[in-house]
Order: sequence, then structure tokens, then C-alpha cells
Amino acid sequence: MSPGKLTVSAPANIAFVKYWGVADPAEAIPSNPSISMTLETCRSRTTVAVRSRREGDRISTMGSDGALVPASGALRRGIERHLGRLRETLGEDACFEVATVNSFPAAAGLASSASGFAALALGVSRALGREPSTSELSELARLSGSGSAARSVLGGYVEWPDPGRSGPGYPAAQIALPEHWPLSDVIAVVERGPKEVSSRQGHLLASTSPHFARRQELLPGRLVAVRLAVAEADLGRLGPVLEEEAVELHLIALSSRPPIFYWKPATLAVLEAVRNMRGEGTAAWATMDAGANVHVLCSPTAEGRVARALAATEGVLEVLCDRVGSGPRDEEVHLF
Ligand code: PMV
Repeated sequence: MSPGKLTVSAPANIAFVKYWGVADPAEAIPSNPSISMTLETCRSRTTVAVRSRREGDRISTMGSDGALVPASGALRRGIERHLGRLRETLGEDACFEVATVNSFPAAAGLASSASGFAALALGVSRALGREPSTSELSELARLSGSGSAARSVLGGYVEWPDPGRSGPGYPAAQIALPEHWPLSDVIAVVERGPKEVSSRQGHLLASTSPHFARRQELLPGRLVAVRLAVAEADLGRLGPVLEEEAVELHLIALSSRPPIFYWKPATLAVLEAVRNMRGEGTAAWATMDAGANVHVLCSPTAEGRVARALAATEGVLEVLCDRVGSGPRDEEVHLF
């Protein structure tokens, strides 16, 4: 029985060990396992209602004046593709009215595909009267083509393991609850707007880098180190591996053929500011996804200090304070 209209939200996540490179692009099966922290306030909120096949899908998003407008461009194409995969996988031929909006500044250049597709997978399942397990939901989110969405269906600390170690559908799994380790993520926005090369394209090119094979050899050791750091809630152990991972993702991107440049001059200025903070005794460690913005991980007690230092760094447009969060949830306020 379909419940009519409903609204859910799902969070973004920040990877400690990055998914970079794709083994099967059609199924979004990554070349390597990854580990992430789910965020709390950077979320996508999505309202879904079932429509008849004859009516077709209707997809909207929030315009700059706060009113809903028809979605266009890459956002529209991504949602249409995902709706198609969801229909196919769930064995349903219904159509949907979908409206989606991000809690974080619309054009902040932050990865919204993980939160957006996790929310869409959950909203569509529920609108069809299904109650998928988190493993099933992880698979449904992955089928969007944005693999990191597979991790956004769970709260706390999440590992998306090797296909050999996970169950059918290749789901991500929670490795620690959010309460286990209260960690802050202070995000320095240095670039607004979409990046020039999508992560989809970056994944496809990754294996053309001469450093890609070496990365695969180094990853097992890093995964062990990050699992241990999470288990022991030890930022001093996590930090160096976190920065090594972020730099290596960009090393692979820069040495792909053709090369991909995601960093801006302000990215380096922020990395320097983070090193300086450490020099002055603040435990803060940086990571970046496939973009120019920098996430700085620190304890909640250091968050204010880190945010002020980042805001004072040249080229930083905005600072967002987020923290480890509890995963997707139902929302009471509908978008239409
Ligand atoms: O989920 P995708 O296809 O957008 O790829 C995510 C890639 C990174 O954000 C760079 C790394 C990760 O593991 O989240």
C-alpha cells in the first residue's frame, strides 16, 4: 500500500579512505574499499509521491527565490537515470513526483550526489510501500552511479568493503556509531559551483595514472590503520592517513591521462593553515574529495578555533561546521 506523499532526508559523507577508480562503471562497483564519516547537517531533503505511468515523472528543485522549479541539466539527468534503475530493481513501473533540496548552500560546490541519491532511494522505496533494510538501501543508492551514496544510508562511521567481504548487492556497513566518536568536520569552501570534471569521469580515468597500481598495493595497510583509528577514536592515528589519502586521490587525478586539476590556489592555502594550526598545538587534519574544498577534521572543542582560522585564510569564501551524524531520517515538512 503506497503512503502517498512523504519526505525523507539523507546526509552527505566525507571519505577517510577514498573510493577512486571504478571496476564496473555501469554498476558503480569501485576498484577499492572505502571508509567514511556520515555528516549531520549537510543533507538532501526529498519529497516523493507516486504518479501513474501515464503521467510520467515530474522532478523539481528549489530555485534561487525559494520556490520549486523544474530540475534541469545534470541534476535532472541523474535523477531520471536513478528513477529508471530503481523501477527496474524494485520491479515497479510507477512514475514519481520528486522534489529535492540541499540543506547546504546550493552552489557551495560540495558533493551532493551521495546525500541526494541516498534520499531518493529511500523516498522512492517508502513511497512504494517498501521498507528496505539498510543493506538493500545501500545497494539501491549505489545504483544511482554515485558509489559514495551507498555509504550515506548509514550513520556514524561506515565501510564499503571489498565485494568479497560484503553480502549480495555489495552494501556498505556501519563500523561505529556516531556516539562512539564525536568528531567535527569544518569545511572551508574555496570554490562555488560545479567542478569542471565530474567524479564519474575521474573514476574512469583513474587507472590511466601510473600511480594507480601502487595505490592499490598501499590501500590494505591504510584501511587497517583507519579501522583501528576509528575503533580507538584516535585522531592522532587517523590524521596522517587521512591527509595521505586525500593527497593521493589528487596525485592520481593529476597524473591521469588527460590530467584532472581539482585544486585551486586557496586549497593549498587552507592546507598550509591546517599545518600551521597543528604547529600551534591544535589537532586538525585535512581531506578533500574530488574538488577544491577542504574538510578539516577536529574535536568538537577545537571546532570554533579551527573555523575562525579557516575563515581568516585567504581565498576561503565560507566556512561550514558539520559533525558526525546519525544517517537518513523522516522529515515532517514536505516540499510540495
Ligand atoms: O560517489 P562518486 O561517484 O561521486 O565518487 C566519490 C568520490 C570521492 O568523493 C572523491 C571519494 C569518496 O569515496 O567519497
